[in-house]
Amino acid sequence: MELIRWLDFERLGDNRGELIAIEIGVDKIIPFEIKRVYYIYATAPGISRGFHAHRNLKQIAICVSGTCKMVLDNGTVRQETIMNSATRGLVIESMVWREMHDFSPDCVLLVLASEHYEESDYIRSYETFLEEQACLKN
Ligand code: TYD
Repeated sequence: MELIRWLDFERLGDNRGELIAIEIGVDKIIPFEIKRVYYIYATAPGISRGFHAHRNLKQIAICVSGTCKMVLDNGTVRQETIMNSATRGLVIESMVWREMHDFSPDCVLLVLASEHYEESDYIRSYETFLEEQACLKN
């Protein structure tokens, strides 16, 4: 099973440099209505982030600068990828455990989210995540 799934954005760059646009309601490339955008940057050396899943939230993560490593885990399969391209977005479905490691100092990770921030949507314990996954499968 492939957990690492990318959306490739159209590049509007020219000889001055690169540009990517995502127009809400016009471009059908994002598979949900974007309700929130946030970005992770200036991550301190040696710090890893994430370590949670979302019950309902879907996200697209775009590494617009630098690099980091993304680990996705659906309770059965655990896969990782290097995030280092501003031209593609990683699809993170609901009920997928994610961890982010090895941030470069210049890493900016832009996230498009399907829902507003809601703490009750988070599963921050890996054991709870596995239990809830098992319930979904049964
Ligand atoms: P958190 O999701 O724990 O970050 P990460 O998964 O990258 O380790 O979020 C860190 C803090 O920011 C936490 O207190 C919740 C808050 N937060 C918001 O208020 N709004 C948001 O959209 C996000 C993503 C986090």
